[in-house]
Amino acid sequence: MPAVVLIGAQWGDEGKGKATDVLGRRVDHVVKFNGGNNAGHTVVIGDEKYALHLLPSGILTPGCTPVIGNGVVIDLAVLFEELEGLQARGVDTSRLVVSANAHVIPPYNRVLDKVTERFLGSRRIGTTGRGIGPTYADKMNRVGIRVQDLFDEGILRQKVEGALDFKNQVLAKIYNRRAITVDEVVEELLSHREALRPMVADTGLLLQEALGRGETVLLEAGQATLLDVDHGTYPFVTSSSATAGGACTGSGIPPTSIDRVVAILKAYTTRVGEGPFPTELLDDMGEHLRKTGHEYGTTTGRPRRCGWFDAVIGRYAARVNGVTDFVITKLDTLSGLDTVPVCVAYDVDGVRHDDMPMTQSDFHHAKPVYEELPGWWEDISHCRDFDELPANARRYVERVEELVGQRVSAIGVGPGRDEIIVRHDLLDA
Ligand code: IMP
Repeated sequence: MPAVVLIGAQWGDEGKGKATDVLGRRVDHVVKFNGGNNAGHTVVIGDEKYALHLLPSGILTPGCTPVIGNGVVIDLAVLFEELEGLQARGVDTSRLVVSANAHVIPPYNRVLDKVTERFLGSRRIGTTGRGIGPTYADKMNRVGIRVQDLFDEGILRQKVEGALDFKNQVLAKIYNRRAITVDEVVEELLSHREALRPMVADTGLLLQEALGRGETVLLEAGQATLLDVDHGTYPFVTSSSATAGGACTGSGIPPTSIDRVVAILKAYTTRVGEGPFPTELLDDMGEHLRKTGHEYGTTTGRPRRCGWFDAVIGRYAARVNGVTDFVITKLDTLSGLDTVPVCVAYDVDGVRHDDMPMTQSDFHHAKPVYEELPGWWEDISHCRDFDELPANARRYVERVEELVGQRVSAIGVGPGRDEIIVRHDLLDA
């Protein structure tokens, strides 16, 4: 079978791990195609909890080959820290492959990310401070450092010199920071070279060959649709392509090889960092969702902003990504409410919008138009079949399905691996 793309439909942290759990051992390759260690997912296997930031989740699935694609930016120190952490717990990490074309996050970009945010003050993006934005900017500016550069020391030095010529001016003259030397950067990058060498591959070729043999490739996005640099709530976005289109550019797999696009929708909405959020709840109900849903960032520990489900966003995600299947996660978090409001459209200065407003200003002014759905009180975590859900929980899912215009193929009802209801297989049609 096929190439399947897995993306987040909202602002991230939707719980993509739920879908990877379902796909589990039937996937031969899991590819991370964008982002870096700004992501964070917690995977629960038995009593063990794994927090991964950079490594693809497939690293935990025996027999699966995890791939870091060309669209990723890699902090090498974090890569080896995560690998060592997993090895210490007995996880076999030897199958990991890393694209020779992926960019590395040099130390100066971590510094620049943090000082730029501080400098922006109230205009800050609320980045994770991991150097993601400056590293993608370097890529587009054609002054980035790629994995393959580590294997040609002369070229590496030249590239670092070229980048630092400019960056040191900015660091010293604008931000009043210490200039960084070429030697310290080259030394840090080269300290990882030998450990990295056996992992490096032409991953585009490797994946195309795997598809040719009929193997299954899962392309897993970091972040999510509304954090995508083109299709998200710019400028409050990350700097990479987190939508289905990014799966092609970030992996080297052509669009014609992709058979399914699975999007994860949390049963309510969360976001971290700054930027507009029409259904945000700044009251006790927001706090209730945060507490009940354990909505604190895996990467930064920041409390996530919480709000009701927003069907305008769901419809937008369906359209931009060509979603074939939605997976709703954390439906259990909504148990115990009298009614559950769902945003079906926006009111922008007196005008109803069923689709995402065209401009950022209109999105900032969007007021949710709510429909109240009846709640349910039962514990649903033991449900494994759609018919076992309380009638009002079923009604909620069916209404979401109607509003977003695409089928809901699976529903998460608890944090554990098995706490899921599968209505349609995510690999076979
Ligand atoms: P950056 O990716 O660190 O540049 O941060 C840009 C924006 O994306 C900020 O609002 C971050 O909070 C957000 N962001 C980055 N990664 C994630 C993620 O994995 N989940 C949710 N938000 C994220």
